[in-house]
Amino acid sequence: MKTIVTDSPADAAAFLRAGEVVAFPTETVYGLGADAVNPLAVEKIFTAKGRPSDNPLIVHVATHAQIHDVASFVPASARKLIDAFFPGPLTLVLPKSERIPDVVTAGLSTVGVRMPRHPICHEFLEACGRPVAAPSANRSGRPSSTTHEAVLQDLDGRIRCVLRGGRSPVGLESTVVDCTSDPVVVLRTGAVSAADLAEVVSLSHLRTSDNAVLARSPGTRHRHYAPRGRVVLVDAPPTKFAGPAAYIGLDAPSNAGTFRIAEIAPSLEAYAHEIFDFMRRCDEIGVEVIYCQRVAPQGLGAAIMDRIRRAADAG
Ligand code: TXA
Ligand code: MG
Repeated sequence: MKTIVTDSPADAAAFLRAGEVVAFPTETVYGLGADAVNPLAVEKIFTAKGRPSDNPLIVHVATHAQIHDVASFVPASARKLIDAFFPGPLTLVLPKSERIPDVVTAGLSTVGVRMPRHPICHEFLEACGRPVAAPSANRSGRPSSTTHEAVLQDLDGRIRCVLRGGRSPVGLESTVVDCTSDPVVVLRTGAVSAADLAEVVSLSHLRTSDNAVLARSPGTRHRHYAPRGRVVLVDAPPTKFAGPAAYIGLDAPSNAGTFRIAEIAPSLEAYAHEIFDFMRRCDEIGVEVIYCQRVAPQGLGAAIMDRIRRAADAG
């Protein structure tokens, strides 16, 4: 199959409406979309990605009315989070409506719902005129894609179309919050931090990760974010290492020239923005050891630590 690259949200939406798989930009990472109410179209996502069928997809919407097409019920906690953070980098797990086929949710009675803020994404979703099921647009197990070039690296020839929309500004996937229980539970950290959530849903109604949570989040069982090089977490830039290595972190190494790539992020936002693209660049030039500096696990730092820890565990 030839993969078409387009700048036109309307053209990309026409492919999606015809039952094809289309990659599109969002403010978090690129998504790999299909018509959420067409089970045959959704099947194609799992095939293109090589994704295990027990890992549910997030459904993306353009309007508040569509939330009620996708979810059978919106609990009070979810209503507050929607008012505060939609559109944005937040996914809410809600009871699933009958309209959403089982293939989307891997047979669960719940569904992840997200309303992205990215203007090109919004235009695309509006033109689709229906909810769009989409995981991140990478081959299963690989770092997520934050550019259309990264999408093509993984999926060229396997999908119908890529909507080009520049670099994803956040660079990490959305925060996922399960709103089907009280307290609501953070299943995945992201740019909407626990502190942000606590301002809307009081702390007594909010739970962050523990083992019970991991069991409830199907995605966490699977291999994730694995570049080909070995990821090693460090407290400070290493001064001694052997072989082709790369470094990313907040602190500048004294020996930056000895790394094949040294990426010094001036802020947590910049670290998040760069991390997946950095891992992919490391792969392209055959870096064997990828040193990632640990950060304090607060705010966006919690999401960065989650992703680099998983990348290290995957090696
Ligand atoms: O930022 C994002 O969330 C991106 C963009 C494209 O929206 N999407 C994304 O999708 O990261 P994916 O499939 O790579 O990750 C979705 C995560 C997975 O860990 C999945 O298991 C979890 O959300 N998830 C989806 N539906 C769920 C549900 N009903 N219950 C629990 N977890 C769910
Ligand atoms: Mg993913």
